[in-house]
Parts: sequence; C-alpha cells; structure tokens
Amino acid sequence: MQAAVFDLDGVVTDTAKFHFQAWSKLAKEEFNLDLPASFETNLKGISRTESLEAILKFGDLLDKYSKEEVQNLANKKNDYYVEAINKLTKEDILPGISKLLTDLKANGVKLAVASASKNAPFILEKLGLAHVFDAVADPAKVKAGKPAPDIFLAGAKAVGVAPNQCVGVEDAVAGVSAIKAADMVAVAVGDKNELRQADCVVPTTRNFTYQLFSDVFDRYHK
Ligand code: G6P
Ligand code: MG
Repeated sequence: MQAAVFDLDGVVTDTAKFHFQAWSKLAKEEFNLDLPASFETNLKGISRTESLEAILKFGDLLDKYSKEEVQNLANKKNDYYVEAINKLTKEDILPGISKLLTDLKANGVKLAVASASKNAPFILEKLGLAHVFDAVADPAKVKAGKPAPDIFLAGAKAVGVAPNQCVGVEDAVAGVSAIKAADMVAVAVGDKNELRQADCVVPTTRNFTYQLFSDVFDRYHK
C-alpha cells in the first residue's frame, strides 16, 4: 500500500448530513417537496448539479426549470451548505481519522483526497488538515464524476502512485464503484449491504486503523 485516496464528506468529517440538510431545505422551500431520509444515499458522492437533477426527477419537475434556473437553485443550495460548513473546526474530524492519517504517513503511505465537492479545499482548511494531505484532486478538472474512476485516478496520479498500489476510502455507493473501477482496494464506512461492492466495510470511522487498511490491501493482493 503506497497511497490512501480519501473521499471527504462522510469519511473525514460528517458533512454528508449538511449536504442533505441543505438539499432538504431547498426542496421544501422551492418545490414544496419533502425528501425522504432514504433519498440521502442517492445523493452521496455525486456532483451538485447531478444531485439537483436527481431531486427534480424525484419530484417530477425535471423539465419545469430552465438551465439558468437550475444553476440559481444549485447556487442557493450551496449558500445553505457553506453556512453550515463555515462552523467546522478540527473538533469535527470524525473519530479515528486523525490517528489513521498519522499512522499511514508514519508508514510512508501518501495521502490524497478524491472528493466530488468543490468545497473540499475550504473544508480541509477548516479542519486543519490542508497540509496533512499530499494532494487534493480537483473535481472540476476530471471528465466524469463518481461512479466513474476519474477522480480517484487523479488522486493517485497527483501523488505519483499506481492505482493498484492504492486503497480508496468511501462512504457512498457511487464512490465505492469509482474506487473499484479505478482498480484500487476499497475500504468503506457505512451500511454493509449497501456498500457490499467494497473489499471491506466497517460501521464507523472508529474502526479505521492502519492495520486494517494494510491487512485488507495485503489480502487483496495475495
Ligand atoms: C460530495 C458529496 C455530494 C455532493 C458533492 C458535491 O461528493 O458526497 O453529496 O453533492 O460532493 O459537493 P459540492 O460541495 O461541490 O456541492
Ligand atoms: Mg462521501
């Protein structure tokens, strides 16, 4: 294992919930639409515009808004979201993550971020982790979003490591598919059944350890 390529929202910090809160607020205010809790999983890992399209489709509203209106709605959601992430501090790093990053680094493993979020650099800054990662892949520069492998491949490339020498880390179904399509070992946090495509799924980030990552990687490559 030469590199670990991390998703951000829901893996390093619990911002996945802020994304969904912001979308729920927008959907209620703009479309009088209640998003069921079960809808959250569909929005994880996919871009801002794709998320909005999925919501409009769910509400049967897809052709009711012009391109410009869609852009304005996406901006509005982002304003709600940024308001929430503005309050993040290093206390909001999920349990087990700081030690995991330290231990990976101590073992010579490069660290990259592969998030679909354009807010990733801002969040890393807020968490005090901007200088801990060796690279942050830019989602604006990749062709296809998750479940395509592009952003994970960009993360590996940015730290100069071949994809098959990387472990990818995710909480989203689309993200696990992206990791596997990139030919990386996938470690996931969340629901075992939903994320079954991963090589290892744990219930919380507390279960993330250097040993676990290294064992899963070695088992896969044996
Ligand atoms: C992450 C989240 C998604 C979000 C996407 C874009 O992948 O899991 O829920 O839609 O980033 O985030 P952004 O901050 O650019 O709107
Ligand atoms: Mg995520």
